[in-house]
Amino acid sequence: MARFNLLALLPWITFALAFPRPLMNTLSKRRAVLQPGARLSRRAAAPPTAQFPYGGAKIDGLPGSQQGGFQVPAPGDTAHAFQSPPAGAERGPCPGLNTMANHGFISRDGITTFDELVAAQQNAFNIAYDLAVLLATLGVALDGDIITEKVSIGGDATAKTAALGALQGLLGPEGGLDTHNTFEADTSLTRNDFFLANGDDYSFNGTLFAMMTETVASTSSTDDPLYDRTGIALYRFQRYQQSRAENEHFYFGPKATHIYGAASFLYQAFPSQANNLKPDKATMMSFFGAVEPAAGEFAFGFQPERFPDNWFNRETPYTILEIATEILAQYLAHPVLFGGNVGPDDFDALGAFGIISNGQLGGNGSTISANDVACLLFQVFATEAVPDSVSGLLTLPIELLNWITGKLLPLSQGLGCPLATNS
Ligand code: HEM
Ligand SMILES: *[C@@H]1O[C@H](CO)[C@@H](O)[C@H](O)[C@H]1NC(C)=O
Ligand SMILES: *[C@@H]1O[C@H](CO)[C@@H](O)[C@H](O)[C@H]1NC(C)=O
Repeated sequence: MARFNLLALLPWITFALAFPRPLMNTLSKRRAVLQPGARLSRRAAAPPTAQFPYGGAKIDGLPGSQQGGFQVPAPGDTAHAFQSPPAGAERGPCPGLNTMANHGFISRDGITTFDELVAAQQNAFNIAYDLAVLLATLGVALDGDIITEKVSIGGDATAKTAALGALQGLLGPEGGLDTHNTFEADTSLTRNDFFLANGDDYSFNGTLFAMMTETVASTSSTDDPLYDRTGIALYRFQRYQQSRAENEHFYFGPKATHIYGAASFLYQAFPSQANNLKPDKATMMSFFGAVEPAAGEFAFGFQPERFPDNWFNRETPYTILEIATEILAQYLAHPVLFGGNVGPDDFDALGAFGIISNGQLGGNGSTISANDVACLLFQVFATEAVPDSVSGLLTLPIELLNWITGKLLPLSQGLGCPLATNS
């Protein structure tokens, strides 16, 4: 069935790749008229305005001012005020995206687009343009649709993300960000491993948030624990050991580098400029939606994620090179083996992939730089075949690789990274 669709739509793929976006947008709008149901149900993000410009990024996939240090949401900006998710909305494993959806920086229904993602990350969190594009590209390519450039930030919503509003996506079902081992991975900070929770790898787990809090408290010298690099790197290490011991399908492949990157957002993107960029507990609770445990309980409760009151974003943009620096620093604080379990208590190290060899980042004893790690981030996703389990490969169709390359090539060149697709 997937094959049939693919063949039937090949002209569309060629067309989409051959023509610039404005034309595609026009066509999308025309199809919207023909196929009202799915497409019109999406509630688009509220764009920045002259009165509330934020980082100046319009919803057009282009860079904004790359400046931050301003209040989010801006006082008086009702379009970006907090609202609980509307009925039927998608929410998923990413607290950053859930927060942005609850504030209308991306579509409040959780069906978002490449352009919304690129703008929202810049405007709300002052994520640098290069990192914003990298993350948006991976999200849309791996879990969404490259023709509509839509993705669900939660579960499968193929009927809403796919071109033609089809039940079947162009290249198969479009599982959304909840999909396991495309972008979502094991040993998350506050989400269960897929295998250990009957596939619920996306819900907030208040026990894990409590464990994280306990760990960062143990490395903090202040009464109010700091979720900083030291504490988070230690908790990442503990989660790795927990998954390796408990999850017989545990997999920690090249893409697990992204897990460290996501963890760095706690102390690089969530802290408020108005609070001296302190990654404190109140800030984390707000972005994760954590609610203090009831008396005598260990686990935190949950409410929808939101910006803390009086929150100001970071002044300098958070770049790919900076996130690569954090990934490396967290890893080197507690090095672990890349690879996975092939059965209970039976771990296989990953042979070689890019700068990973003998199961280790940088191999055995060799030194690597943040720039090497940055290049790995590109390689992990823009390569034809990436290990996605101990014995399996995720092979990406050529249409997808071409789309990814189109988005990432300028960025990878800027960092001096080769971007070989058809290896
Ligand atoms: C297009 C942009 C983005 C996409 C597609 C995306 C996607 C994801 C996905 C799939 C995960 C789950 C990874 C896992 O299995 O643990 C995740 C985790 C996470 N993301 Fe995002 N993300 C994006 C941007 C952001 C931003 C801008 C922030 C912060 C401001 C953020 C903060 C986080 C955090 C803290 C986690 C870890 C949650 C946990 O481990 O419990 N993300 N993201
Ligand atoms: C939350 O995580 C803990 C620790 O991994 C686990 O024991 C528990 O079953 C999880 N809770 C839910 C509701 O999934
Ligand atoms: C790694 O290096 C150490 C000494 O530096 C050596 O003893 C060990 O055999 C090496 N391991 C691998 C897998 O190459």
